[in-house]
Amino acid sequence: MADEPVSTGKPLARVDGPLKVTGGAKYAAEYEVPDLLHGVIVPSSIAKGKITGFDTEEAMAFPGVIKIFTHQNRPWGPHFSLFFKDPMGPPGRPFRPLHNERVHFSGQPVALVVADTFEAARDAAALVRVSYREEVHATDLEKEAVSAYEPPRHRIGVPPTPKPTGDAGTAMAAAPVKVEATYRTSPENHHPMELFATTVHWGADNTITVYDKTQSPKSVQIYLKTAFLFFRRHVRVLSPYVGGAFGLGLRPQQSVFLAVLAAKALKRSVRIVIPRDQMYTLGYRAHAIQTVALGADEFGLLQALKQDAIAATSRNEDAQDPMLYFSGLLYRCENVSLSYKLAKLDTVSPCDMRGPGATTGMFALESAMDELSYATGQDPLALRYANYTSDDQMEHRRMSSKALMDCYAQGAEKFGWSLRIPAPRSMRDGRELIGWGMATGIWDAALSPLPARATVTLTADNCLEVATSVTDIGTGTYTILTQLAADAMQLPVDRVTTRLGDSSLPYNPTQGGSWTAATAGSAVQAACDKLKKKLLKHSTGRDTFNPGVVPRHQFVDLLKAAGKSSMKATATITQLSAGRGFTSATHSAVFAEVRIDEELGVIRVTRIVSAIAAGRILNPLTAQSQIRGASVMAIGKALHEDAAYDHNLGRCMAHSFADYHIPSNADIFDLDVIFVDEKDEEVSPIGAKGLGEIGSVAVAPAIANAVFHATGHRVRELPITIDRLLPGLPRTGGH
Ligand code: MOS
Repeated sequence: MADEPVSTGKPLARVDGPLKVTGGAKYAAEYEVPDLLHGVIVPSSIAKGKITGFDTEEAMAFPGVIKIFTHQNRPWGPHFSLFFKDPMGPPGRPFRPLHNERVHFSGQPVALVVADTFEAARDAAALVRVSYREEVHATDLEKEAVSAYEPPRHRIGVPPTPKPTGDAGTAMAAAPVKVEATYRTSPENHHPMELFATTVHWGADNTITVYDKTQSPKSVQIYLKTAFLFFRRHVRVLSPYVGGAFGLGLRPQQSVFLAVLAAKALKRSVRIVIPRDQMYTLGYRAHAIQTVALGADEFGLLQALKQDAIAATSRNEDAQDPMLYFSGLLYRCENVSLSYKLAKLDTVSPCDMRGPGATTGMFALESAMDELSYATGQDPLALRYANYTSDDQMEHRRMSSKALMDCYAQGAEKFGWSLRIPAPRSMRDGRELIGWGMATGIWDAALSPLPARATVTLTADNCLEVATSVTDIGTGTYTILTQLAADAMQLPVDRVTTRLGDSSLPYNPTQGGSWTAATAGSAVQAACDKLKKKLLKHSTGRDTFNPGVVPRHQFVDLLKAAGKSSMKATATITQLSAGRGFTSATHSAVFAEVRIDEELGVIRVTRIVSAIAAGRILNPLTAQSQIRGASVMAIGKALHEDAAYDHNLGRCMAHSFADYHIPSNADIFDLDVIFVDEKDEEVSPIGAKGLGEIGSVAVAPAIANAVFHATGHRVRELPITIDRLLPGLPRTGGH
């Protein structure tokens, strides 16, 4: 038989693709469950205060309504105790729907209407009258910034803001060239295509099967066990397919909490789907006000770097993300001072959103670097070369790998950067101003902080099953695990089936942090290695194993020789970060072209070249999709997305995609992706670094810098909307 080609590293189309395009892949709200009830949330109409009463008479009389839950009649559970926390939550008290009469934010669930059809629940929900005693709310970060504070407790699992090095104040004062500016970013909502939803199937003996939209069925299982006092074996959580999540599914959401609360109280199956207008109050990317000061010599060499951020959080939690962690890591500079503060708002807690912190922090730093390039008369790319460092200068450690130089060189070559005319407003095409900008990106590369397990099972029909509990949120996890296992067992990929997104499978933590490919992939590879040793031992009695000595396609023969119809092996991968003596990160260089209608201020991003260094690329097709999707999302951050608040009402003004703009097909042109060679045998056993977030980090600043190059007008606030750009465009005669 001919040798099977190695699959890993090849552009295999998604193994879950056919199921997704034919409707065979089911999402949380699509599971058929007998005798299903439907829950619809009643959101608060005020931002802060107390509920003084409910009038539910009319709603209860609506045909089909079974029950209306409020804080007055909901059952007690441990989740209402003082000490309850949920996995992945930041320091503070998690928000718990229907806890008590307090209203913490506009849109907070204050009642849940359960009816025998969705339509009945929805219509009855509109009839629930809630009376409030309103209090003065604060939702404006500009105003609350004066009372910003350093978070007293650090959020576990998030890289801390680096301590100061050198003496930034003195070095800044002495620097011949200095740029200083304040940058603002807007709150953004995640808005995955699939709505947050939960279907709870109430089974015999008080067991529940929960189809939930989550990034971690295991976390939700553990949460439900402790929150509602279930035996763990009585709760099974499934999320085999997830239509995007972007971080909003890292913590258990309102839908799973309320659906299980209702199901347990009624001993019935219940489904809740969060409608699009309520998706604005599940969580958001914290908006921030950042001041960056850079001191440099005449050639642009950094002498001092200062970045001070004030980011939004809620009253009840100190939400934190690594906004400034990367600012100390990226460039050579001996005097660095970074401060990260929070300001409390009467909103739901902010939460992680693709490239949390980094996309916001690097927008400010990379905009400031661009300003420095003009202040010193340097090409923006040359400025990055001049300030390059190959080490982690904050921790005085080496990087496990850093092929950023190759990103710069190959990205610039592909983009044609050398043809750029340096002066702003110098590259025109008819009525359009053309701008070319670039920026550097960086994101964490690590295994999950929690250990991960995977099981592989070989059967006598020469098929292999891979099983691990983590989800695939659209990232390509099914596909790359299938490829890795196929290669490890020397099988064609169509002999391998991968099962994911089920709490009954071996523990594998949350899909997130860009760590899933490296973590789950390494666990699968380790399980395959273990299985091969086991097969050899059972069939030949030898317990030393050199994979090279077994000819291709012989593992199933070893299975038969051992007299077995199937054999399985489970392996665990643990993060070994402590004391490794190096830092790992992914890097990118992003080059953007914008064309701006000089009369109207309309911006089109006509080209993006992303050059990415992310270790071993397991599948260039799914990897490119990750980078392209992240680029689209970041174009939204740069030009469109703004979950703007009406501060009089204290609520987000958007209720749909008509008033919350995201890029559409017409906004997207060429998105080129280059993966540079980067060999890294330390970052993970399979050499992969992860790609979920790096694609988004440098895109918004590259676009902002291109807008400046096109127009000569620096917009220091995202999104760069026409009203922010147009006043800065000089009128050119004839009007
Ligand atoms: Mo990601 S923001 O860890 O889903």
